[in-house]
Amino acid sequence: MRIEKRRQAMVGIRAATAALVGGLLAVGCGGGDGAGGDGVDTAAAATGAVAGAGADSTPLTQEELERGIGPVREVELGAIDEALAERGEEVFELKCFACHRLEERYVAPQLGNVLERRRPEYVMNMILNPAEMLARHPVAKELLAEYMTMMPDQDITEAEARAILEYIRAEAREGGGDSNQGTGSEAGSGTTDGGR
Ligand code: HEC
Repeated sequence: MRIEKRRQAMVGIRAATAALVGGLLAVGCGGGDGAGGDGVDTAAAATGAVAGAGADSTPLTQEELERGIGPVREVELGAIDEALAERGEEVFELKCFACHRLEERYVAPQLGNVLERRRPEYVMNMILNPAEMLARHPVAKELLAEYMTMMPDQDITEAEARAILEYIRAEAREGGGDSNQGTGSEAGSGTTDGGR
């Protein structure tokens, strides 16, 4: 019921955020949702020029949608490397645990089951390049609207991100295999995880 309550509060907040984010988007990318009214368009275009920098306005490729935006293109997953997973655990506890839990939703999304909804490349790119992901990737944007906290850039190296990924895999194998019970379905009721 604690969760119920939080969810209720969240609905109100979410509506407000949606409005806010919607507003920002309209300004940021010159009226993303089709626009139409000429007066509006001009205004948006003008503001767009100021807000400028406009990384936002470049459409994502299919690959970016699936694998996220960042340095990681291809991750090969073999048998779990225990030593690597252990290193990942250390980094995770130091730099992620403040916001993330593997087995439940916290300040941030649950991560024990993240590989059920995201590709490994996406996970690593989110870790390595959160600012751009939050600015441009529709899934990350939606989570931002929901959690209202910006995942910070933690200055993680690619090797560390890979180790964290291994840690998540190792934990999913052990405890998280049962993620269709309780917590799993809770996460599934969230907005962006492909509804399972
Ligand atoms: C200050 C809190 C905070 C810290 C610290 C943090 N994150 Fe996040 N993370 C978030 C939030 C909040 C989101 C959801 C998107 C958003 O709002 O930024 C997120 C999203 C993610 C996602 C995407 C989840 C999904 O379902 O798509 C991954 C993967 C992730 N974080 C991994 C990590 C890892 C690994 C670390 C440590 C290196 C870390 N995060 C540190 C807050 C945090």
